[in-house]
Amino acid sequence: MLHPGFVFGVATSSFQIEGAADARLPSIWDTFCATPGKIRDNSNGLVACDHVARWKDDVDLIASLGVDAYRFSISWPRVVRRDGTLNSAGIDFYKRLLDALNARHIKPFVTLYHWDLPQHLEDRGGWLARETAYRFRDYADLVTRALGDRVYSYATLNEPFCSAYLGYEVGIHAPGLTSRKSGNAAAHHLLLAHGLGMDVLRTNSPRTLNGVVLNFSPCYAASANAEDQAAAELADATFNQWYLRPLLEQRYPDLLDQLSPDERPPIQAGDLEIIGAPIDYLGVNYYTRSVYRADAVQPFVQVPPAAPLTDMGWEIYPQGLTDLLTSLHRRYSLPPVYIAENGIAVADAIEAGVVRDDIRTQYIQQHLDAVDRAMDQGVAVAGYFYWSLMDNFEWAEGYAKRFGIVHVDFATQQRTLKASGAAFRDFLLARHRGA
Ligand code: FCB
Repeated sequence: MLHPGFVFGVATSSFQIEGAADARLPSIWDTFCATPGKIRDNSNGLVACDHVARWKDDVDLIASLGVDAYRFSISWPRVVRRDGTLNSAGIDFYKRLLDALNARHIKPFVTLYHWDLPQHLEDRGGWLARETAYRFRDYADLVTRALGDRVYSYATLNEPFCSAYLGYEVGIHAPGLTSRKSGNAAAHHLLLAHGLGMDVLRTNSPRTLNGVVLNFSPCYAASANAEDQAAAELADATFNQWYLRPLLEQRYPDLLDQLSPDERPPIQAGDLEIIGAPIDYLGVNYYTRSVYRADAVQPFVQVPPAAPLTDMGWEIYPQGLTDLLTSLHRRYSLPPVYIAENGIAVADAIEAGVVRDDIRTQYIQQHLDAVDRAMDQGVAVAGYFYWSLMDNFEWAEGYAKRFGIVHVDFATQQRTLKASGAAFRDFLLARHRGA
């Protein structure tokens, strides 16, 4: 794994760190945050990590870690005006950021859509409207033309499962809709947007590494009995393969045939060919696994996770990353894989200027070992990004959950490298010295 080309990075996303909300259009997350009861600590993304004002210091911070790459996302409502033209002040921010990263030889991995849909598009149906996929294509076209050769890698979407399922099916994320029908429609239009976006990337930016980032929670059966095994299979088809199989094999899982006509995604002729055009890489986000059992009423029921748990209540299970990668490798003909996110929320306390988060250092080490085991079994993994560079707005959890290797005091915006960040940096710098 320590071969010279392996890319190590840290990741963030626009809404979670940028702030400077007055300089962009509202997104669905602004609206969601303003809706009482949606965000655990009633917070919002208006200031967040104030990154738009502090980006120079943040680039210094990133560079000090010795990473090869930085993954971040572009805020669609910051760079495209309501009338569909480019907002030059918005795009200039990203140009400056990209120039600074390139000057430090840090490869920019740019995600085009990390959940912050412009609210005016949601007002016209959001991801329930097929039209939104075409607006995404237009946005991708404007951005790739404007950014030229500053970018190393593009991802069309981050975690379409979360946008579709959490946002349009169970409603715990923006825009907060709740039906199977809307979840499936949103998922299909997001996948279509990905396919249309890939076409733009191939044309406008053929030299960048172009792909998509999916999240996976590998599904395990609670027991060896056939019913539990079938329940886990079904959960896997619903949550994981639903997004990957169309991309790699131009078809949805067979579960599609079991959906009622009302719940079927609005697939039009030619869509799956657009969705399943080749990608240069697959981004894989891994945090935890899920365990399922059969049930008399529902198709599957998730068993509460076992200890050790993170501050999110997620089981720490590094072997799940090995199992995930090797199972995807067996099942599909995979393009190169980047672990685009992996990380742990810890209830970090800063004491005398120090954050002792040994559990995070251990988590990173265990997951890198898990990647190594998958590579030993033949999976082509090309990079690993820790989520996240710094503590930030953790969606429905607000600022209460801290994923960063850098601590942020949200009252003062003071950044403090945690013990895990120092360990990650020492590991990366030793690598550069060839140690
Ligand atoms: C992922 C998201 C990312 C972050 C982590 C903890 O699902 O992509 O923005 O919130 O979870």
